[in-house]
Amino acid sequence: MKRIIVITSGKGGVGKTTCTVNIAAVLAQLGNRVLMIDGDIGLRNIDLTVGVQDDVVYDFGDVVMENVEPQNAVICCNGDGLYLLAAPQINSNLNMTPLKMQALCAQYATMFDYIVIDCPAGIGNGFENAVYAADLAIVVTTPDMAANRDADRAIGMLESMKIPNQMLLINKVRGDLIRRKKSMNIDEIIDILGIDALGIVPEDERVIYAANKQKPVVLDKKSQAAKAFNNIARRLQGEAVPLIKLKKRR
Ligand SMILES: Nc1ncnc2c1ncn2[C@@H]1O[C@H](COP(=O)(O)OP(=O)(O)O)[C@@H](O)[C@H]1O
Ligand SMILES: [Mg+2]
Repeated sequence: MKRIIVITSGKGGVGKTTCTVNIAAVLAQLGNRVLMIDGDIGLRNIDLTVGVQDDVVYDFGDVVMENVEPQNAVICCNGDGLYLLAAPQINSNLNMTPLKMQALCAQYATMFDYIVIDCPAGIGNGFENAVYAADLAIVVTTPDMAANRDADRAIGMLESMKIPNQMLLINKVRGDLIRRKKSMNIDEIIDILGIDALGIVPEDERVIYAANKQKPVVLDKKSQAAKAFNNIARRLQGEAVPLIKLKKRR
């Protein structure tokens, strides 16, 4: 196992699930075996994002309760080494805790190179369970004051829980608005949040097209967001890749 990564934010709708699926998909394309864990009990949606909703038989609750062998609970999402462990739709009798999540991840340690956990919104129990086992937390925010305030709260929680590494991913960035000073700029956000930047991802309608086709946007060669996710996954693998240049909108 190389890394357990959690994708978190505080606020909903900033792109956690999108980032989880696309970073995981690129890591898989780069030759890794990657397990995505949907950490959102009751509101799972990675299965829909990658079009395997009809293949979900077991979820991580079944693994925790030992109803199924860990290797039989994961769903293959493509031929590339990308797998999903779905979240339970109901929380009955599970009483999930951070330690149970850590034990769950440990069961997959020899089967996968990366585990990428999609954290639920908020900073309650679901957050604590999802982040506890991670050695890297990617905090997703957008150029938006509310997202940054919530990201700041999430970073405070990660620090108090002693999660070893935190990096910032700024999603839905609009270069045209930044140039016209109508949007917070990247340096300003990095300064406010005070953690290292992993990357920026432009707002790109191709992300929405891909979601509707139930495919990762990284399969769309024309997408600017796909380029950004490629760079981010390569940085995670230790490559020195510069930040993408934001194109003018037509
Ligand atoms: N870079 C992007 N450009 C355009 N739309 C995006 C981008 N990232 C995410 N979205 C869209 O924003 C919405 C929320 O994203 P999602 O990943 O579900 O957020 P979260 O998991 O944080 O709630 C979705 O409709 C998604 O397609
Ligand atoms: Mg989500």
